[in-house]
Amino acid sequence: MKPMKATQLAVVLGMGLFIVACGGGESDGPVVPPPPAPAEYAASHMPAGWWTDAAKLEEGRKLFIGETNPDVNCASCHGKDGKPVKAGARDFRKGDRMALYSDSVWFWRIAEGVPNTKMKAWKSKLSEEDRWKIVLFERNFGLAGKGWDPEKHAWVDAASLPAAGAVAAPTSAEAPAAAPAPAGK
Ligand code: HEC
Repeated sequence: MKPMKATQLAVVLGMGLFIVACGGGESDGPVVPPPPAPAEYAASHMPAGWWTDAAKLEEGRKLFIGETNPDVNCASCHGKDGKPVKAGARDFRKGDRMALYSDSVWFWRIAEGVPNTKMKAWKSKLSEEDRWKIVLFERNFGLAGKGWDPEKHAWVDAASLPAAGAVAAPTSAEAPAAAPAPAGK
Protein backbone atom coordinates (compact mmCIF):
# COMPACT_ATOMS: atom_id res chain seq x y z
CA MET A 1 0.00 0.00 0.00
CA LYS A 2 2.67 2.48 1.04
CA PRO A 3 4.97 2.09 -2.02
CA MET A 4 1.92 2.48 -4.25
CA LYS A 5 1.02 5.81 -2.69
CA ALA A 6 4.57 7.12 -2.94
CA THR A 7 4.60 6.32 -6.65
CA GLN A 8 1.31 8.09 -7.21
CA LEU A 9 2.57 11.12 -5.33
CA ALA A 10 5.72 11.19 -7.43
CA VAL A 11 3.69 11.07 -10.63
CA VAL A 12 1.49 13.95 -9.53
CA LEU A 13 4.48 16.00 -8.40
CA GLY A 14 6.29 15.27 -11.64
CA MET A 15 3.36 16.43 -13.72
CA GLY A 16 3.11 19.60 -11.69
CA LEU A 17 6.77 20.42 -12.25
CA PHE A 18 6.40 19.69 -15.95
CA ILE A 19 3.53 22.15 -16.29
CA VAL A 20 5.42 24.87 -14.38
CA ALA A 21 8.50 24.40 -16.56
CA CYS A 22 6.52 24.64 -19.79
CA GLY A 23 4.42 27.57 -18.69
CA GLY A 24 7.41 29.75 -17.89
CA GLY A 25 7.29 32.80 -20.17
CA GLU A 26 10.19 34.68 -21.75
CA SER A 27 11.72 37.34 -19.57
CA ASP A 28 12.94 39.52 -22.45
CA GLY A 29 9.52 40.33 -23.85
CA PRO A 30 8.16 38.92 -27.06
CA VAL A 31 10.57 38.34 -29.92
CA VAL A 32 8.59 39.50 -32.90
CA PRO A 33 9.61 39.71 -36.54
CA PRO A 34 10.11 43.16 -38.07
CA PRO A 35 7.91 44.49 -40.87
CA PRO A 36 9.05 43.26 -44.28
CA ALA A 37 11.40 45.46 -46.31
CA PRO A 38 9.53 47.53 -48.91
CA ALA A 39 9.69 46.39 -52.53
CA GLU A 40 12.60 48.63 -53.51
CA TYR A 41 14.76 47.05 -50.80
CA ALA A 42 13.45 43.50 -50.68
CA ALA A 43 15.83 42.31 -53.42
CA SER A 44 18.93 44.05 -52.02
CA HIS A 45 21.37 41.62 -50.47
CA MET A 46 24.94 41.55 -49.24
CA PRO A 47 27.35 41.55 -52.20
CA ALA A 48 28.70 38.06 -52.93
CA GLY A 49 31.71 37.10 -50.83
CA TRP A 50 31.36 39.92 -48.32
CA TRP A 51 29.99 37.86 -45.42
CA THR A 52 33.43 36.31 -44.97
CA ASP A 53 35.47 39.41 -45.90
CA ALA A 54 37.45 40.52 -42.83
CA ALA A 55 38.65 43.76 -44.44
CA LYS A 56 35.09 44.91 -45.21
CA LEU A 57 34.06 43.95 -41.69
CA GLU A 58 36.83 46.12 -40.28
CA GLU A 59 35.71 49.04 -42.46
CA GLY A 60 32.21 48.49 -41.13
CA ARG A 61 33.50 48.63 -37.57
CA LYS A 62 35.22 51.97 -38.19
CA LEU A 63 32.08 53.37 -39.76
CA PHE A 64 29.88 52.11 -36.92
CA ILE A 65 31.97 53.69 -34.16
CA GLY A 66 32.37 57.03 -35.96
CA GLU A 67 36.06 56.63 -36.73
CA THR A 68 35.63 57.02 -40.49
CA ASN A 69 33.19 59.91 -40.25
CA PRO A 70 32.34 61.53 -36.91
CA ASP A 71 28.94 62.53 -38.33
CA VAL A 72 28.05 58.86 -38.59
CA ASN A 73 28.34 57.32 -35.16
CA CYS A 74 25.99 54.40 -34.72
CA ALA A 75 27.77 53.38 -31.51
CA SER A 76 26.69 56.62 -29.80
CA CYS A 77 23.23 55.03 -29.47
CA HIS A 78 23.72 51.35 -30.24
CA GLY A 79 26.96 50.92 -28.29
CA LYS A 80 30.37 49.81 -29.53
CA ASP A 81 29.67 46.26 -28.47
CA GLY A 82 26.03 46.21 -29.60
CA LYS A 83 24.72 46.88 -26.10
CA PRO A 84 22.44 49.92 -26.43
CA VAL A 85 23.57 53.08 -24.68
CA LYS A 86 20.44 55.10 -25.58
CA ALA A 87 16.96 54.01 -24.53
CA GLY A 88 14.92 52.45 -27.29
CA ALA A 89 17.85 51.41 -29.48
CA ARG A 90 17.64 47.74 -30.42
CA ASP A 91 19.96 45.29 -28.69
CA PHE A 92 21.93 43.84 -31.58
CA ARG A 93 23.41 41.12 -29.34
CA LYS A 94 20.05 39.33 -29.19
CA GLY A 95 20.69 36.71 -31.84
CA ASP A 96 17.23 35.18 -31.59
CA ARG A 97 15.62 38.50 -32.43
CA MET A 98 18.14 39.63 -35.00
CA ALA A 99 17.83 36.30 -36.81
CA LEU A 100 14.27 37.32 -37.72
CA TYR A 101 15.65 40.24 -39.72
CA SER A 102 16.85 39.64 -43.26
CA ASP A 103 19.89 41.53 -44.51
CA SER A 104 17.47 43.54 -46.70
CA VAL A 105 15.57 44.72 -43.61
CA TRP A 106 18.76 45.89 -41.91
CA PHE A 107 19.91 47.65 -45.06
CA TRP A 108 16.52 49.30 -45.48
CA ARG A 109 16.39 50.53 -41.88
CA ILE A 110 19.88 52.00 -42.10
CA ALA A 111 19.01 53.71 -45.39
CA GLU A 112 15.60 55.08 -44.45
CA GLY A 113 15.58 55.06 -40.64
CA VAL A 114 12.60 54.20 -38.45
CA PRO A 115 9.90 56.91 -38.61
CA ASN A 116 9.10 58.75 -35.37
CA THR A 117 12.12 57.38 -33.53
CA LYS A 118 15.68 58.57 -32.93
CA MET A 119 16.80 56.31 -35.76
CA LYS A 120 17.19 58.62 -38.73
CA ALA A 121 17.82 57.88 -42.40
CA TRP A 122 21.51 57.54 -43.19
CA LYS A 123 21.42 57.15 -46.96
CA SER A 124 22.63 60.71 -47.59
CA LYS A 125 25.72 60.06 -45.46
CA LEU A 126 26.46 56.45 -46.35
CA SER A 127 26.99 54.93 -49.78
CA GLU A 128 25.33 51.59 -50.47
CA GLU A 129 28.69 49.87 -50.00
CA ASP A 130 29.25 51.55 -46.66
CA ARG A 131 25.78 50.50 -45.51
CA TRP A 132 26.58 46.90 -46.36
CA LYS A 133 29.88 47.12 -44.48
CA ILE A 134 27.95 48.31 -41.44
CA VAL A 135 25.46 45.45 -41.78
CA LEU A 136 28.47 43.12 -41.70
CA PHE A 137 29.66 44.59 -38.44
CA GLU A 138 26.20 44.71 -36.88
CA ARG A 139 25.65 41.06 -37.74
CA ASN A 140 28.67 40.12 -35.63
CA PHE A 141 27.03 41.12 -32.35
CA GLY A 142 24.42 38.37 -32.37
CA LEU A 143 24.99 36.32 -35.51
CA ALA A 144 28.78 36.05 -35.83
CA GLY A 145 29.86 33.71 -38.62
CA LYS A 146 26.43 33.77 -40.25
CA GLY A 147 25.23 35.20 -43.53
CA TRP A 148 21.77 35.68 -45.00
CA ASP A 149 20.83 33.14 -47.66
CA PRO A 150 18.19 34.81 -49.87
CA GLU A 151 17.18 31.46 -51.36
CA LYS A 152 16.65 29.68 -48.03
CA HIS A 153 15.39 32.92 -46.51
CA ALA A 154 17.45 32.22 -43.41
CA TRP A 155 20.76 32.89 -41.71
CA VAL A 156 23.24 30.13 -42.54
CA ASP A 157 26.96 29.55 -42.06
CA ALA A 158 28.63 32.36 -43.98
CA ALA A 159 31.20 29.92 -45.35
CA SER A 160 28.44 27.97 -47.13
CA LEU A 161 27.37 30.99 -49.18
CA PRO A 162 28.62 31.59 -52.74
CA ALA A 163 32.06 33.23 -52.90
CA ALA A 164 32.77 36.49 -54.71
CA GLY A 165 32.63 36.15 -58.45
CA ALA A 166 30.04 33.38 -58.37
CA VAL A 167 27.29 35.86 -59.21
CA ALA A 168 27.25 39.56 -60.02
CA ALA A 169 27.24 41.53 -56.77
CA PRO A 170 23.70 42.84 -56.28
CA THR A 171 24.71 46.11 -54.64
CA SER A 172 21.85 47.96 -56.27
CA ALA A 173 18.16 47.49 -55.65
CA GLU A 174 17.76 47.59 -59.41
CA ALA A 175 20.28 44.89 -60.19
CA PRO A 176 19.77 43.95 -63.83
CA ALA A 177 18.38 40.50 -64.43
CA ALA A 178 21.70 39.11 -65.63
CA ALA A 179 20.87 35.55 -64.69
CA PRO A 180 17.54 34.00 -65.62
CA ALA A 181 15.18 34.22 -62.67
CA PRO A 182 13.87 30.97 -61.24
CA ALA A 183 10.52 29.98 -62.70
CA GLY A 184 7.52 31.60 -61.11
CA LYS A 185 9.34 34.63 -59.75
C1 HEC B 1 20.47 58.97 -32.05
C2 HEC B 1 20.53 57.55 -31.75
C3 HEC B 1 20.78 56.58 -32.89
C4 HEC B 1 21.83 56.59 -33.80
C5 HEC B 1 22.98 57.58 -33.92
C6 HEC B 1 21.63 55.43 -34.64
N1 HEC B 1 20.53 54.74 -34.26
FE1 HEC B 1 19.84 53.01 -35.07
N2 HEC B 1 18.22 53.07 -33.89
C7 HEC B 1 18.01 53.97 -32.86
C8 HEC B 1 16.75 53.68 -32.22
C9 HEC B 1 16.16 54.41 -31.04
C10 HEC B 1 16.19 52.57 -32.91
C11 HEC B 1 14.88 51.84 -32.62
C12 HEC B 1 13.79 52.33 -33.50
C13 HEC B 1 12.53 51.54 -33.21
O1 HEC B 1 11.87 51.84 -32.22
O2 HEC B 1 12.24 50.61 -33.97
C14 HEC B 1 17.14 52.22 -33.95
C15 HEC B 1 16.97 51.19 -34.85
C16 HEC B 1 17.94 50.71 -35.71
C17 HEC B 1 17.80 49.59 -36.58
C18 HEC B 1 16.52 48.77 -36.77
C19 HEC B 1 16.31 47.84 -35.68
C20 HEC B 1 14.90 47.34 -35.67
O3 HEC B 1 14.59 46.62 -34.73
O4 HEC B 1 14.11 47.62 -36.58
C21 HEC B 1 18.99 49.41 -37.22
C22 HEC B 1 19.35 48.33 -38.21
C23 HEC B 1 19.86 50.47 -36.77
N3 HEC B 1 19.18 51.25 -35.87
C24 HEC B 1 21.14 50.67 -37.20
C25 HEC B 1 21.86 51.84 -37.02
C26 HEC B 1 23.08 52.18 -37.71
C27 HEC B 1 23.79 51.26 -38.66
C28 HEC B 1 23.43 53.43 -37.31
C29 HEC B 1 24.60 54.26 -37.80
C30 HEC B 1 24.66 54.53 -39.22
C31 HEC B 1 22.44 53.87 -36.34
N4 HEC B 1 21.50 52.88 -36.20
C32 HEC B 1 22.48 55.08 -35.69
C33 HEC B 1 18.85 55.00 -32.49
C34 HEC B 1 19.98 55.40 -33.19
